Amino acid sequence: MDRIVVRGNGPLNGKISISGAKNACLTLMPATLLSEEPLTLTNAPRLSDIRTMTTLLRSLGAEVQTMQDGKVIAMSSHQADNHVADYDIVRKMRASNLVLGPLLARHGHAVVSLPGGCAIGARPMDIHISALEAMGAEIELKDGYLHAKTSGGLKGADITLRFASVGATENTVMAATLAKGTTVLRNAAREPEIVDLVECLRKMGAEIEGEGTDTITIQGVDRLHGATHPVVADRIETGTYMLAPAIAGGEVELIGGRIDLLGAFCEKLDACGIDVTETPTGLIVRRRNGRVNAVNVVTEIFPGFPTDLQAQMMAVMCTAEGVSVLEERIFENRFMHAPELIRMGAHIDVHGGTATVTGVDKLKGAQVMATDLRASVSLILAALGAEGETVVNRVYHLDRGYERVEDKLSAVGAHIERVSEDE
Ligand code: UD1
Repeated sequence: MDRIVVRGNGPLNGKISISGAKNACLTLMPATLLSEEPLTLTNAPRLSDIRTMTTLLRSLGAEVQTMQDGKVIAMSSHQADNHVADYDIVRKMRASNLVLGPLLARHGHAVVSLPGGCAIGARPMDIHISALEAMGAEIELKDGYLHAKTSGGLKGADITLRFASVGATENTVMAATLAKGTTVLRNAAREPEIVDLVECLRKMGAEIEGEGTDTITIQGVDRLHGATHPVVADRIETGTYMLAPAIAGGEVELIGGRIDLLGAFCEKLDACGIDVTETPTGLIVRRRNGRVNAVNVVTEIFPGFPTDLQAQMMAVMCTAEGVSVLEERIFENRFMHAPELIRMGAHIDVHGGTATVTGVDKLKGAQVMATDLRASVSLILAALGAEGETVVNRVYHLDRGYERVEDKLSAVGAHIERVSEDE
């Protein structure tokens, strides 16, 4: 398994290009199952999670071709006749559950393995299930698989989600595009990835209104057609690299980065003493003074502070001036980076869903373990400002969600390299 070695070496300067959003791409790809005509995605990120979704769609009978070194994904589902999403693929990635709605809409039945545990919490599927049941699906759990079927197809319904789940919103919207009648989805998630999905579905002929608000209305149509769609910029990758100069100093321009996708995150950066300026091509980030100020953070649904940036923000708080309290409200077990940051000299107390971080002058390099995707990158960020060498072990999590992280950070002057097991 690869390791990443980082030597903290002061300010970062230069440009980093932001890739297409992993989470948007992972929901756009299953949309191919809704149509017999081709769906082509451009600006796709080159990540192992995208390869897992490719494998899953192929196993369902879809044709998936990647071009331009993976940046373009051309899909066709005209022969997709398998409705069983197998455990061996689904267990690798929770987003595999996003085939449930499209399969059900297309075939009237679907068998999808439950994704299984994820390191950051239980992540059940009850919200997906009750929304699809409200549309007439009968769903039962057998042998670890959700067996879903409809008699006479899905029907539009008035649905209120008990929590604004991103995945449940995506599954329900996709399923509703081909249902009979109108679906009104209330307490829907408002994340930019959902807006991107709806824009793509609309190009495919879907009739949808209200994306980006908490009520989405979908008028079912008989069929969807082909389309080409660029994947929206990755707001989590953008936020992650915005924090690199916050820790190491310097000035970094994020090409393709969009402030409007980041909600409350940018307000927190301002309060910390980090300047963000929009440019015609992206945004520039720099630390205002020598050391950032401690701020308190509560993770919330969009446009609140994203849970997917909590670990990275904790890395910044480790060397901030003062004490900060980070409260995780979306996932119940998302502080696994804390013990690793403590190995680097951070002062962190975790109690339940709250972490209290007392800033220290400097972290020190250490051997650390990457425990999940965002935790992995938080350790790399911390290492950029630490004294000495940090070795981040088990970086396969990182490759699920960050395209060429070592190349992007080296380009702005970081001392970072990947070491393969056999070297
Ligand atoms: C998506 C993102 C993930 C992000 C998360 C929250 C993708 C591929 N992943 O995950 O990066 O961290 O949104 O912004 O887009 N829940 C239930 N029952 C359900 C569904 C969810 O209890 O049926 C709970 C989960 O356990 C979790 C919370 O709701 O505690 C948020 O989950 P959800 O919004 O569904 O996140 P995902 O779509 O899995």
